Amino acid sequence: MNKVSAPGKIILSGEHAVVYGYPGLYASASLRMNVELTKNGNRLSSSYANYAFKKALKMHKVKAKPDYSFQIKSKIPIGSGMGSSASLAVCMSTLAQRIAKKKFDLEEINRVAYEIEKKQHGKPSGGDNTIVTFGGYLWYRKESEKLKVFSKITPVKALPKLFIINSGTPSESTGEMVSLVRDKYNKNLDEVVDIFNQIEICSKSLLKNILGEEKNDLGEIITFNQRLLEQLGVVSLQTKNLISLLEKNGASVKISGAGGKTQGSGILLVYHKDPKSLKNFVKSKKLDMISVSLGKKGVKIEK
Ligand code: PMV
Repeated sequence: MNKVSAPGKIILSGEHAVVYGYPGLYASASLRMNVELTKNGNRLSSSYANYAFKKALKMHKVKAKPDYSFQIKSKIPIGSGMGSSASLAVCMSTLAQRIAKKKFDLEEINRVAYEIEKKQHGKPSGGDNTIVTFGGYLWYRKESEKLKVFSKITPVKALPKLFIINSGTPSESTGEMVSLVRDKYNKNLDEVVDIFNQIEICSKSLLKNILGEEKNDLGEIITFNQRLLEQLGVVSLQTKNLISLLEKNGASVKISGAGGKTQGSGILLVYHKDPKSLKNFVKSKKLDMISVSLGKKGVKIEK
């Protein structure tokens, strides 16, 4: 009854631009987080989880603070662009909604999770918590603080196999990467707006590909998107070198999420026309790669 789970996510296209009102294309991932409330469990160690739960209780108007502990089990890598913080916020929001004895309401879960995410990210677009709440594939756009629109997408056919390689946990937080882009935006407005416009073209091409409206090359879109993110300054040299190695082997690769500038840049989304050759290459280079299935269910109550 007091156990919920929420998926991780990947951003297929549109990270950073989405903060400025451009569209983002999101998919939920098969790796999930489970949070269980127990009356006498171990005390919680993460201060963010504590904060998230307290904020969720307050926003769901639970008056008396219940004496609960949590058990968090997660397969989502932390701080790497796969939505672990959004997943936690959504799980906490859902649990608080249950404690408040309200009906299961995804809109409300998402609204509260967005407020929790502000602590972690400062000014988030809201895309991460929305995909984690609703699951599947989403086209998302933040028009203003109070108007965030999104549409569920049903792919006409299964997407080709996509893989995840972790380029290393970034030393910068998402908030820091968002600020870094903000500085660049303030200093070089025309250049950054041009990059965002081109990112929007990538997002739309990918959308049309998924909807079966255009037969464009998925690999080309991913690579172009990656070049734009590099121009934005959110990819470290270490990660660029790793991507260049994978590209030489025929892969198309982009970061997914906020990225990282000095060390790792979080997870990489990898596509290859010949997954077998990719797997052999990755093995020979001793890289860690996982296959990820997309479009999974959003937050749910577990038995
Ligand atoms: O927290 P991450 O790494 O999943 O990235 C969030 C995506 C950004 O566009 C960089 C920020 C946002 O709020 O949308």
